[in-house]
Amino acid sequence: MAEKLVLAGPASEELGRSVAEKLGLPLLGAEFKVFPDGESKFTVTEKVSGKSILLVQSTHAPVDQHLFQLLLASHQLSEEGAKVTAVVPYLAYARQDKEFLPGEGVTLGVIAHLMRSMGVRRLVTVDIHSAEGLALFSFPTYSVSAVPSLVNYVKEKLELKDPVVISPDFGGSKRTEAFAQLYGAKFLQLSKTRDRTTGDVSVKESKLEVEGKEVVIVDDIISTGGTVRAAAEAVLKQGARKALAVCVHGLFVGDAIQRLEDASVEPIVSTNTVPGKYSKVDVADALASHLRTLEE
Ligand code: R5P
Repeated sequence: MAEKLVLAGPASEELGRSVAEKLGLPLLGAEFKVFPDGESKFTVTEKVSGKSILLVQSTHAPVDQHLFQLLLASHQLSEEGAKVTAVVPYLAYARQDKEFLPGEGVTLGVIAHLMRSMGVRRLVTVDIHSAEGLALFSFPTYSVSAVPSLVNYVKEKLELKDPVVISPDFGGSKRTEAFAQLYGAKFLQLSKTRDRTTGDVSVKESKLEVEGKEVVIVDDIISTGGTVRAAAEAVLKQGARKALAVCVHGLFVGDAIQRLEDASVEPIVSTNTVPGKYSKVDVADALASHLRTLEE
């Protein structure tokens, strides 16, 4: 059996180390550098031939830099004879997994090609935006669910009384329904639409049974905060007592937090697939449990 090591990339240093610790695996000696002009450099400082490397690197902002570091490291490690498993807790570009409007590039397909060409043998991610996206990859892929960890956190830390769990749109409804089931709460689904040209979000008005309730809005990603904000406004308008936001990947771009706070969304909870102030839920155990099941 090949010797296994973990390489904690610069985007996921803490999570990578924690995964290594949980698996009882050593960290690989390597150096990532970014030059003043933004170019990246990678150096592996030990022999990796015949070894299996779990390369942990999320691809949040700066997205292309983190992605390039992942590809560069994977290429070098495989050139030197290692087998690379890309562990990408937040997989960027996963939302563009098809041509929604004519002429659009299928970005996730490009990522799949790039990873393969750069030597990635397997991909492990957390809650990919849509499971259909995994079909674009021509090597084994796994999407680990952070839902049980999120449910545990909400149950243990937030002490809600008979909350209602809401999905802002149809796309994320399976994940959110799983959250509601595991929590043992009522599940409701809103109908969000996004203008594919302007990006503006609106939620269709419909009667919701949320009067006096604490409402947990669950989504895979919070980026600008527009989706959760629109959902919160809809439920608060209909008499909900409180609106909370729970997501897997908290990107919180620009003034997203301010927008959510202005709409009285509180608290805001995300996992540490993207590190930051709101990353209260650790996915290291979920990742380690899955990685333990992989051979080599
Ligand atoms: C889209 O379908 C995703 O599931 C999220 O709802 C979306 O990415 C959130 O983006 P924003 O926070 O910018 O509304």
